[in-house]
Amino acid sequence: MKFKGKHFYNTADLSQKEVNYLIDLALAMKKGKVKKSLSGKSLAMLFFNPSLRTRLSFTIAMQKLGGLGVDFPIKDGYTFECELGKIMDKGTIEHIKDAAKVISSYCNVIAVRASDLITSSSESVKVQEWSELKKDKTIKSFMEYADVPVINMESNVYHPCQGLGDAVTIKEKLGKTKKKKYVMTWVSHPKSLPMATPNSQILSACDLGMDVVIAHPEGWELDTEIMKTMKQKAEEAGGSLSISHSQKEACQNADVVCAKSWGALKNYGNWDYEKKLKENLNGWIVNKNLIDITNNAIFMHCLPVRRNVEVTDEVIDSKNSVVIDEAENRMWAQMALLQSLIKS
Ligand code: CP
Repeated sequence: MKFKGKHFYNTADLSQKEVNYLIDLALAMKKGKVKKSLSGKSLAMLFFNPSLRTRLSFTIAMQKLGGLGVDFPIKDGYTFECELGKIMDKGTIEHIKDAAKVISSYCNVIAVRASDLITSSSESVKVQEWSELKKDKTIKSFMEYADVPVINMESNVYHPCQGLGDAVTIKEKLGKTKKKKYVMTWVSHPKSLPMATPNSQILSACDLGMDVVIAHPEGWELDTEIMKTMKQKAEEAGGSLSISHSQKEACQNADVVCAKSWGALKNYGNWDYEKKLKENLNGWIVNKNLIDITNNAIFMHCLPVRRNVEVTDEVIDSKNSVVIDEAENRMWAQMALLQSLIKS
């Protein structure tokens, strides 16, 4: 596998053989096959947004491999410029071109979380148009100028570490995954959330050759171009991809039910309008009635979760729920990734 020195932006940039290699390495590490392979190596983690799981799992992943993870939250109004040739006489403090090269001189790998929509605020924030957000300028600029691998810890478009961790969990719980039924169901949420996580979660299920069904209300379609890649990946791995506007219909005989909310692309950024549309969609929740019609499905959620809005306590606390293993597997997946990317 040719991972060394490469950036990790999206699982879809890897071949399915490479994705499976990382999953198997993560599972072997979880079973105890861990060496201090990154002794003397360091990871700089740049968080433009809040995080619990990603922050802790990367820090501990580095520690378990004998290296150091340094958490660098970007706050107090510290701003970066990414446009080349810009006359920086306004607010931005530093060009990413300089920052990426400086950090590369200290560290062996850089990880960046840069999403315009992830905030701790109780209301959804104002964002640019999707066509602009989709350019993922911040992380792409770090990738352009860094001299070491850059890992995407969640951008506007993808959350590949979540996707990889989910793939590890599905393989761990189901064993064989080909043609097993995976349902990604949209669920209600008081805020409008990014599409990055469902994009990467679905891509991973596609890489595992599953029969993937995306269930969402009309108007909550994901990006057409990304859906095209999902379909290609699913078919390449011997699975399929389909859409349903009925949660109940989608979940019949499912082996995996994964819940996630996201903002409607059709009205992206028009959150007040979306809030009104969502008033009639409170029924989009994962409850026991839904799990009862599955093939004793495992229940997945990336967390954090709004209990009794996205999923009932009864389901998330049941034996079907694998959400804690899913969060733990983020760490094993990232250990496999770090060991594979960092040059010795
Ligand atoms: N699932 C996930 O990425 O969690 P955090 O936002 O807490 O890192």
